[in-house]
Amino acid sequence: MRPEAVAAMQKMFADYHAQSPTGDGLTVVSPYRSYPDQVSVYNGWVRRLGQAQADRQSARPGYSEHQTGLAVDIDTATNQGFGTTAAGQWLAQNSWRYGFVVRYQQGQEPITGYEYEPWHFRYVGVELATELQKQGFPSLETFFGYAPAPSY
Ligand code: DAL
Ligand code: ZN
Repeated sequence: MRPEAVAAMQKMFADYHAQSPTGDGLTVVSPYRSYPDQVSVYNGWVRRLGQAQADRQSARPGYSEHQTGLAVDIDTATNQGFGTTAAGQWLAQNSWRYGFVVRYQQGQEPITGYEYEPWHFRYVGVELATELQKQGFPSLETFFGYAPAPSY
């Protein structure tokens, strides 16, 4: 991952653990992916689920934010229903303070092209993340006025 995103993530993890000493620990499940990494991830989902479902949850190689070094999948040790865990909720409520957004929010699939991914955080910097949070934008597409990208 890019250094500025790593530094922000480390600060976020430290603050989470300080504020939730009895909560689940946070784990980095998937940070930077190279093009071949994404080929392997995407093809794996296609094999398991078929292409139609794979396209709802995995980016085609060349289109994943993970390839930019600015996205990270974060989960707890339990890896179940992350969005409803205390850790998932803390991150959803606080990650903007560190410059991250929950990039694929619930109900945004027609715009972002992906199902809800409570574990996928995209680093956009504190300034933009604060703006998105304050104004309540549910996606970068909506904020920037981009056309929906359901086929990505
Ligand atoms: N799961 C997200 C969409 C990705 O593959 O980048
Ligand atoms: Zn992800």
